Amino acid sequence: MKRTHHCGQLRASDVGKSVSLIGWVDSIRDHGGILFIDLRDREGLTQVKANPNSDDANFNEAINSLKPESVVEFHGEVEARAEGTVNDKMPTGEIEVQVLEVVVHNISETPPFPIDDEKGDKVNEDMRLRYRYLDLRRNKMNKVVRMRHDTTRAIRDYMDTNGFIDVETPILFKSTPEGAREYLVPSRINPGEFYALPQSPQQFKQMLMVAGVERYYQIARCFRDEDLRADRQMEFTQLDIEISFIDREDMYSLMEGLMKQIWKDVLDIDLPTPFPRMSFNDAMNRYGVDKPDTRFDLEIQDFSEEFANSSFKVFQATVAKGGVVKAFKAPTLADVTQGEMRSLEEAAKSLGAKGLAFIKVAAGGEWKSPIVKFFSEEEKAALNERLSLEEGDIVFFAASEWEQACAILGRIRLECAQLLQKRGRLEIPEDQFNFLWVIDFPLMSYDEERGGYAATHHPFTAPVAEDVEFLDSDPKKVRGQHYDLVLNGVELGGGSIRIHQTAVQKKVFEDVLKIPADVVQERFGYMLEAFKYGAPPHGGIAFGLDRLVMILAGLKSIRDVIAFPKTQKGQCLMTDSPTPVTEKQLKDLHIDTTVLADEEE
Ligand code: AMO
Ligand code: AMP
Repeated sequence: MKRTHHCGQLRASDVGKSVSLIGWVDSIRDHGGILFIDLRDREGLTQVKANPNSDDANFNEAINSLKPESVVEFHGEVEARAEGTVNDKMPTGEIEVQVLEVVVHNISETPPFPIDDEKGDKVNEDMRLRYRYLDLRRNKMNKVVRMRHDTTRAIRDYMDTNGFIDVETPILFKSTPEGAREYLVPSRINPGEFYALPQSPQQFKQMLMVAGVERYYQIARCFRDEDLRADRQMEFTQLDIEISFIDREDMYSLMEGLMKQIWKDVLDIDLPTPFPRMSFNDAMNRYGVDKPDTRFDLEIQDFSEEFANSSFKVFQATVAKGGVVKAFKAPTLADVTQGEMRSLEEAAKSLGAKGLAFIKVAAGGEWKSPIVKFFSEEEKAALNERLSLEEGDIVFFAASEWEQACAILGRIRLECAQLLQKRGRLEIPEDQFNFLWVIDFPLMSYDEERGGYAATHHPFTAPVAEDVEFLDSDPKKVRGQHYDLVLNGVELGGGSIRIHQTAVQKKVFEDVLKIPADVVQERFGYMLEAFKYGAPPHGGIAFGLDRLVMILAGLKSIRDVIAFPKTQKGQCLMTDSPTPVTEKQLKDLHIDTTVLADEEE
């Protein structure tokens, strides 16, 4: 079963050659006494022609039995296509293969959906996932699978060139409840005890630094029991990195080099470096998120000062309580429909907004708004001046505690950008890659519900040196040596310089996070101990490989760049998992199950 060429390979210069091709029947066209078959393999299509009424009855039978998606092997001769039948859209469009011999390997039943880029895109996603092996045959999907391979190859090249060592870390890890919910795996040989699947190799990569590996990387599978979204799966892949003896600046330039190489190798694009940087505060104030899409402006502004003494009580009271009043102008969007307005309001409310006050600048510059009647002339003048209001504009307000007000308008900004795009009034170029380092995150954030501090990222992040003195007095003020790499509004990766001294790590756990000493010992004791035996200063980062490939491929969902993804409900529709298991299996694991109904919150 030897092919001489793949189906994307033959050219005019091959005319006259005897060739063997093998692949899938893409289409069959009957031109009265002559069959034209497009044969497809992963490299492309070749047109073959066969005479189904030849002198050879077996040949005729085989040819006539073919149906789309059958697997077949053709032996024949390359011919130039007749004038007028050359297809310049196909790389093999100058030739066709006259079939002399055929071997049928598998006749396909009619597939549940057409193996076709355009038609396949319209097929319901559940259907595509149920028959993923057919979906992946489509040219588009095949390209993505290969682009993912090109990406990991570029990564491995770069990491290798720069002295990184690939080390595997355990999948059966220990439960360290923190961050996302984790998956538990019962231990048969230790009744009643469980492993947890790693949310990331974080602790192991730090131990590798203590072990003297100096530069580690891994393309690592991570598991998080989170609600799934377009850019979130329960099981996903990180490019995980940890380095000894570096500071933040070294990290930025090494990672910029990595992105440069990926973009060059995969898309043949030269990325400009260094990437711009923005502080967390700036990102929140101007874009309302810690992962701003800077391909378009539409920035948010703060009007707390202007409304501090307003007669509009909602605004005045918010500022009096230490909150803020923020406003955002969507130029030319005063023609927002009632339906669109309702969904904007719902989006705002889903983030805790009490309302979404607005001003529409109508014809002649007149303001239409439920709230301007409460505004003084100065307040109106300030809005007019700072927002440069013009006829057709709309302004949205959020009055709330700082982070919430930012988040609300950040969301409204993105929704408005979509509405403007839909109207052709804003262009967000898909082939523009706006990388951005977001830095200076607070090390800790205060969790009102729990009534205590929580690590903004994870408890291993080192504080910025100048801020260490506030660890006891005012933890909110302490910045972490954390960095996120953002691309076009997607958080591509994040990491930090770590704490490498037992005393500081212990202080963060016990004095700031207020984790009881015995719990710290039980969960992280080994780490505190390891740091006593010569832990080098170190730092690292992890990138979401699925998100990276999604953006490289210009797609909107990471499900499209994962060969076998899970649905929103965490199911694999192809293999039909998860499933119940037998009593015997449970017994072996010392597990007795009673499925409890979800308690009402
Ligand atoms: P973090 O939790 O920020 O950091 O994860 C790093 C990156 O992984 C991607 N990511 C995901 N991708 C798909 N589905 C998910 N559920 C998902 N969750 C995260 C994101 C994210 O930026 N150990 C630290 C890194 C470090 O400090 O070195 C960590 O895991 O792109
Ligand atoms: P009210 O005085 O509650 O009727 O609110 C007047 C207008 O302000 C309505 O359009 C509300 O949607 C809006 N609004 C109320 N609270 C807020 C808030 N915190 N931020 C922004 N707009 C608000």
